Amino acid sequence: EKGNTIAVFNRTAARTKEFYEEAGDLKDRIVPCETIEEFVAAIRPPRPIIIMIQAGAAVDQQMDLLRPHLEKNDIMIDAGNANFRDTMRRFDALKDSGLTFIGMGVSGGEEGARHGPSIMVGGAEDSWKRVEKVLTSIAAKYNDDPCVAWLGENGAGHFVKTIHNGIEYADMQMIAEIYGILRDGLKMSAAEIGEVFGQWNKGRLESYLIEITEKVLAAKDPIAGGPIVDMILDKAGQKGTGKWSAIEAQNMGVPATGIEAAVAARSISSFKTEREAAEKILGLPDVPALAVADKAAFIHDLESALLAGKIGAYAQGFAVMSAASKEYNWNLPMPTIAKIWRAGCIIRSQFLDEITSAFTKAPDAANLIVTPAFATMVKDTDGALRRVVAAAALHGLPVPALASALGYFDSYRRGRGTANVIQAQRDFFGAHGFDRLDGADSHHGPWGSGLNA
Ligand code: 6PG
Repeated sequence: EKGNTIAVFNRTAARTKEFYEEAGDLKDRIVPCETIEEFVAAIRPPRPIIIMIQAGAAVDQQMDLLRPHLEKNDIMIDAGNANFRDTMRRFDALKDSGLTFIGMGVSGGEEGARHGPSIMVGGAEDSWKRVEKVLTSIAAKYNDDPCVAWLGENGAGHFVKTIHNGIEYADMQMIAEIYGILRDGLKMSAAEIGEVFGQWNKGRLESYLIEITEKVLAAKDPIAGGPIVDMILDKAGQKGTGKWSAIEAQNMGVPATGIEAAVAARSISSFKTEREAAEKILGLPDVPALAVADKAAFIHDLESALLAGKIGAYAQGFAVMSAASKEYNWNLPMPTIAKIWRAGCIIRSQFLDEITSAFTKAPDAANLIVTPAFATMVKDTDGALRRVVAAAALHGLPVPALASALGYFDSYRRGRGTANVIQAQRDFFGAHGFDRLDGADSHHGPWGSGLNA
């Protein structure tokens, strides 16, 4: 579609044939290959080969199958959702082989992959230079800016893609929580809720995920006729990138509470039978139903609360990337990451343009929420977030991700926290010591002198 001629191969030859047959006008730019030998022979060396298959062992197997047929300087590009640790291992394994490896995060789902994704490249900078032109030609464009960039050595691209997905989990979960308040709190129908999301998509929340939520809520079930969303089992799948984001955040000691809450919510969703049994035993919370005096004002609060929650999740995601950048010496370019997420990817939105501008003005900001534009946005929206989380709590509606954002803001902005008590407890039971506010050189409490007898 973008003018590049490609050779294609799938281990199941029938799939390759099917793909070719469906290519329509583009057939003359596609060379379908039935065997690896044929495939490798069809590409002019040095060969750039994009591997896009299920992440994990299959990638190692595919690379092993390709290797004996490749020559010096050929480039294997893993474009799946690899765990960046696997990518680092693959880089090490190929280090002295003369072959080039690129770990490339690709976002945009099937349509993005087909018509223009956001592409996050990791590897040696000179390898990037060799594929830059072709990747730029296939990447999504935001205005005229291509949504592709080299982000750093080895696992940088796949790490950034993982965090993209972690943020995607948080975004989706917070949308689902707001949907829950509208459905179970305000008793609105799927179609009515869809209209709300449709309105929001014209405002500050404009994004692909809000847009598709509107469409999802408006869609009819071809079998039963009602809204399809009402027929879908409430058990969410997950393939691992959200969990990896939370694990890596924890590994580096950076809070990513929005992502953690979203991953946990998907896990709780999967215990459908247990949840149904628990509802029989415990019942739903014994609280009054949500009653709002001014529905329009409440819905406006929900919009602002969702924006606030989003700010929290993105701030955390960028903070995790910033820590990883130091840990793995990647020198990740934060403004560029925000920039290449503005189009093509699943979390694409207007909001990412604001993040791009905030990080361009303050590339070394400790946290997105202390940049001037986002500090203002937090101050403008956190009141609504507080009211929404409070209303949800009082009326028994679960909002773990939104509540986590509120907890994050409230803790992060408070200079004097409560960890003094934790430090005292640690010192009391384990003599772990503490630092004093006045800097005095006394690092243990007076517990030994009979207090803990
Ligand atoms: C994207 C998507 C893509 C994929 C996820 C879904 O950016 O294009 O994130 O990577 O759809 O793997 O992940 P879960 O199955 O874990 O929801």
